[in-house]
Amino acid sequence: MDGRELVRSMKVVGSVQGLRAVRSAWRQRRTDAREPAPRGPERARVPGPVTGAERMPGGGTVRFARAELHVCVAVGGAVFWGWDGARPLPSYALDEAPPEPDPRAGLEPDKDGGWRVVSERMTVAISRHGGVEVRTPGGVLLRRELPPRWWERAPGGPARWVQRSEVPADARFFGLGGRASGPRLRDGTYRLWNTDPGGRFGPDDDPLYVTMPVQLVVADAGTHLAFYDNSWDGRVVLREGEEGAGSGHDRPGRSELRMDGGPLRCWVVTGTPARVLHAWTALTGAPTPPPAWALGPQHARWGFGSEREVRRIVAGYRERDLPLSAVHLDIDHYDAHQVFTVDRERFPDLPGLAKELRADGVRLVSIVDPAVKAERGNAVYDSGSAVGAFVRDGRGREVRGVVWPGDCVYPDFTDPLVRDWWGGLYEERLAQGFAGVWHDMNEPVSFAPFGDPTLPRSARHRLEGRGGDHREAHNVYGLAMARAGFEGLWRLRPEERPFLFSRSGWAGMQRYGGTWSGDVSTGWPGLRASLSLVLGLGLCGVPYSGPDVGGFDGSPSPELYLRWFQLGAYLPLFRTHAAIDAGRREPWEFGAEVLAHARAALVERERLLPYFVTLAQLARLTGAPYVRPLWWGTPEDRALRDCEDAFLLGDSLLVAPVLEHGVEQRGVRLPNGRWYDTATEEAYEGPGQILLDAPRSRIPVLARAGAVIPVQDEDGGRVLEVWAPADGRPGGGLVVRDPGDGRREPEVERYTSRLVDGEVVVERVGHDGTVEPEWEVRVRGTRPVRRG
Ligand code: NOJ
Repeated sequence: MDGRELVRSMKVVGSVQGLRAVRSAWRQRRTDAREPAPRGPERARVPGPVTGAERMPGGGTVRFARAELHVCVAVGGAVFWGWDGARPLPSYALDEAPPEPDPRAGLEPDKDGGWRVVSERMTVAISRHGGVEVRTPGGVLLRRELPPRWWERAPGGPARWVQRSEVPADARFFGLGGRASGPRLRDGTYRLWNTDPGGRFGPDDDPLYVTMPVQLVVADAGTHLAFYDNSWDGRVVLREGEEGAGSGHDRPGRSELRMDGGPLRCWVVTGTPARVLHAWTALTGAPTPPPAWALGPQHARWGFGSEREVRRIVAGYRERDLPLSAVHLDIDHYDAHQVFTVDRERFPDLPGLAKELRADGVRLVSIVDPAVKAERGNAVYDSGSAVGAFVRDGRGREVRGVVWPGDCVYPDFTDPLVRDWWGGLYEERLAQGFAGVWHDMNEPVSFAPFGDPTLPRSARHRLEGRGGDHREAHNVYGLAMARAGFEGLWRLRPEERPFLFSRSGWAGMQRYGGTWSGDVSTGWPGLRASLSLVLGLGLCGVPYSGPDVGGFDGSPSPELYLRWFQLGAYLPLFRTHAAIDAGRREPWEFGAEVLAHARAALVERERLLPYFVTLAQLARLTGAPYVRPLWWGTPEDRALRDCEDAFLLGDSLLVAPVLEHGVEQRGVRLPNGRWYDTATEEAYEGPGQILLDAPRSRIPVLARAGAVIPVQDEDGGRVLEVWAPADGRPGGGLVVRDPGDGRREPEVERYTSRLVDGEVVVERVGHDGTVEPEWEVRVRGTRPVRRG
């Protein structure tokens, strides 16, 4: 038992669930021990020398003495390769069918005895011993895969494998899902196994709830994303490179991926960051946009405890004139913590409460946990048992774990029939008046004082009919649950887009909704981790997320709460939330000064709502996250690659939160171009570093010269806020109006801005030339310019 396990065991044993959890952990150990141990010595295998090749549309198959490699460039420019018969399907990550092979690309011999596929976007070179290189069309190396190695224990059993890769010496790694220590992933080991860290986490905790074998690599040579489509447990060891290391030679950056089983297959997309994310979401699905109300301020708490308390909180917002768009009910509104039930004593009339709040512009969102109390008479358990919905062990018995309601069983979301059944259960939530759902505990969690706090690795899953065990199903459990919920809600209420976000997930989860930080610890490191998670997830294709503002546990100081609030106001999911035993999180609980500044942040968030709606729609259309690292548009700017304390919100804004105690002034690194401090309208020229005031009342936010930003005024009137373009440098922006909560396809409006004789001219680009904007235009930023 390591230190962390010891702390965990003390926490669990001391709780009500203690004995149950201890028993369950032993049970899990016994269940796995019953499985036959792999036999025989392990044999390492490498591809060996090349023996031949067969051409096919988009690429072909290259044969080696002991393995074969299939390579295919797809329409749209992504390249796929898979060893030993691995093909793009089956896959939990891909959205429907994989793209068609690009008929213009084909396998050709190269002069070194290897093979290559040349396409418009890249060249893929396969060496004589099974190395794979991805190069730009100009021939510059982006990624080199060394020949892989496999170890097979029992013949026919899962083969563990390792894939070592090299990237340019100047490259930086990002991605791997939600990591607390990023967004730049420094040297270290990152595990690929969705994990509830148990109560709270800080930057040193890894892994967390959403892991993904997705690496985004940014280098001078270009940006690429590599996705090893494999949901098994694995580890990635990263080591950044060094230029001019040892005798003046560059040491490349290195990645070593070790997987416990599953296919060795990889997708790579290359180009600018925008292009890469576009190609990635074309492959794995467009991020579903939340309804506009879910882009407004939301408030949650584990432990409101009663309808009366919910009313008191909402009244608190209203009395103080604070905008609020949703309240989230946690497990304390369930009857004895059982999913799809209501504690009728404390919440006697939820539909009535929902209606009343709705009239006041506030929606209710419900937590939904996957674990079902294993007890006859529990309607969900009974109906699930009737359809064989729950995960079983190798002997056909239901696997039991322990979660909030006590002994529980787990729906097998990898079974389409179970997804169907589960999706139908959301009818009860809709009837209670909930407007959206918040999926929790779906790593999935089973409380355990020692060992892995999840299902036994030997637990059986249907895996869409292929059959397999928890080693393969674990990481896609939350993703498949999200699919069940999302599709169920669409079916039940076809006129409204589902609002769903999920604690756990995997590549492709953006098709069904977003995520949130989980139990981020209250403290300045937790605040930093919040930003790291949102940025990292965005680069993996999941643009809608945000932290528990104020942190999950304990009590933030007024200053920390305020700084968290000010950051949260610029993140897609803006939600205060905390644990049952944590201090208060309402903005008025921290004194008059904090209340005034929090109100300003809320008002600004409301003002920016049309911009957030635009960003949500653009994320769907292009894959670009709302929250982007500063290097997004200029990845060649090396200083920006290492800048982790500020971000771009869309194309137009740069947000520089305060992440440290006592700071009232901060350095801000600017990408190139002119930027205006939105508070003073002072202009600065990037690239470069500037120092800006960050008084308690606000965090620095800069606007790009020429930006056209849709906002709303106090009366809800639509306004285009235009930041004066620099002379000779026209600007512009895209605007997408709220298409409502249904399926309507909105129109993208394109605006240009330019300076003509010292005057700012704004035009909408129509089908036949330019037209006058329909929105009121307000020009800002006409102050003299300072050098950055
Ligand atoms: C864990 C979640 O991360 C947290 O947000 C929630 O409040 C608790 N579970 C209780 O449901």
